[in-house]
Amino acid sequence: MRTKMVAGNWKMNKNLQEGLALAAELKQQVTNPTCTVVIGTPFIHLAPVCELLKNTPIAVAAENCADKEKGAFTGEVSAEMIASTGAQYCIIGHSERRAYYHETYDILREKVLLALQNNLKPIFCIGEVKEEREAGRQNEVVKAQLEGSVFNLSAEEFGKITLAYEPVWAIGTGLTATPEQAQQMHAYIRSLVAAKYGQTVADETTILYGGSCNEKNAKELFANPDVDGGLIGGASLIAEKFCSIIAAR
Ligand code: PGA
Repeated sequence: MRTKMVAGNWKMNKNLQEGLALAAELKQQVTNPTCTVVIGTPFIHLAPVCELLKNTPIAVAAENCADKEKGAFTGEVSAEMIASTGAQYCIIGHSERRAYYHETYDILREKVLLALQNNLKPIFCIGEVKEEREAGRQNEVVKAQLEGSVFNLSAEEFGKITLAYEPVWAIGTGLTATPEQAQQMHAYIRSLVAAKYGQTVADETTILYGGSCNEKNAKELFANPDVDGGLIGGASLIAEKFCSIIAAR
């Protein structure tokens, strides 16, 4: 049975005190989840949030990592540094990183490798923009994103990856993919993994849905056989909403 997961992505929200307060609320409320729970926080929150959530069922993710190992890269944060905080996951390839920070397939391939080398589990995001969906090109876009950055991995390495399908037109827009659209794409993604790594690896790959997933639509989305959970942006900033989504999984 593959891992079911609800992961939060705080993005660039909450100062340190606010972030710690939210983590403390979650610590209190998420005591016995039936799925893996992860929160993705800004870099500066990682160490104190990991400390606060030690010995709880909540794991912590960075939202990005550098594409270089170490050295003269002013302002960057390496995978090794992230791992040293106690974080266990790293979100890589979020559409906001691809669009605003020009992260290419090659850059993302390096980030995934560095995360894995430092025992961080990548949550690798893929998804098409609105024009691509309207042109019916969503499958080819997602396939190219996988081939460009993660299908170079060995089956063993790939087994450590969680995929997150996040149609860009649904992120932060209130426009959620329908359960049918999500299921169709997740099944397609799983078929690509099966063609590349075999059915066993595909059956064990966790594929999250992200994009305006909230406490109201989570249950319906998660009811689909190939939707293994969610990557949650806006609704992960409010403990009550995030907990409802966890309960829906
Ligand atoms: P959203 O963001 O839930 O606010 O749409 C999801 C994401 O970008 O991971």
